[in-house]
Amino acid sequence: MDKNLLISNINKMKREHNAVIVAHSYQVDEVQEIADVTGDSFALSQFCASSQADTIVFCGVHFMAESAKILSPEKTVLLPEINAGCPMADMVTADALKEAKKKYPDAAVVCYINSSAEVKAECDICCTSSNAVDVIKSIDKKDIIFAPDKNLGSYVAKMVPEKNIIFWEGYCITHHKIKADAVIESKRLNPDAILLVHPECQPEIQELADFVGSTKQIIDYARNSEHDKFIIGTEMGVLYQLKKENPNKTFYMMSTGLICPNMKKTSLQSVHDALAKRQYEITLDRDIIERASGSLNRMLAVGK
Ligand code: 13P
Ligand code: SF4
Repeated sequence: MDKNLLISNINKMKREHNAVIVAHSYQVDEVQEIADVTGDSFALSQFCASSQADTIVFCGVHFMAESAKILSPEKTVLLPEINAGCPMADMVTADALKEAKKKYPDAAVVCYINSSAEVKAECDICCTSSNAVDVIKSIDKKDIIFAPDKNLGSYVAKMVPEKNIIFWEGYCITHHKIKADAVIESKRLNPDAILLVHPECQPEIQELADFVGSTKQIIDYARNSEHDKFIIGTEMGVLYQLKKENPNKTFYMMSTGLICPNMKKTSLQSVHDALAKRQYEITLDRDIIERASGSLNRMLAVGK
């Protein structure tokens, strides 16, 4: 179907279903263009929790749509691409987390939002990359199991040294593509550019950066900075917003391969089909929703 016709059909069905389209900043440009809101995992969770819509079309990956459903169980949440998962979220299971809790019975449990609903139901509080430091600071206990991202874990361990972080062996396959020698070379080629990286990057990359932050924090930093050249160390979807907001600034990607294949599955056609066929609806057990919503709402209360 022609692009303009797809967009006009999407807008028509959106009105009919009282639907909103939310898109993570790693989505392809044309999906971000038609979205009602774009942002990072925290901003989108906050938006979904307070939205008045009846239907949320979540253009992102599975754990994000699940989080929207947990925060708004009365709404219909649709994930346009059923196979859009997150390999890092799959690196922790509820059973493995239960075993870790037995091993460290006195530890608090913090789960990165990149985890399944079942895992969220087993933790004390969730966090995103934008508020992980504040979440860790909000916890009374010294020992904290942090799952699944070991890189975000080492970032918070550095920022909150008074806590004892028990790391999980999870990581993002996309951010792990960023290697220190490529970063050093990129800085050498662009000596007056500011290096902005995501905390899912490995610790040696974070060490080289001028700023470490979530997708939205990177976009905010570039907008508010007086500098005009930036090297970007996160998934290339952020370029859409960065270029739109800062037409006179220059952005260099750390590498051309910084693409999350799961985030790139969603297309205008799949958003259209999601609304037309009401697919793929996220459903969760009431018990899981109740326990996981405690962890997510405690996180939202910490804010960012
Ligand atoms: P944020 O949305 O918190 O920046 O995290 C990025 C990410 O990898 C989401 O899967
Ligand atoms: Fe998961 Fe990494 Fe893709 Fe985010 S960018 S969805 S953490 S694989």
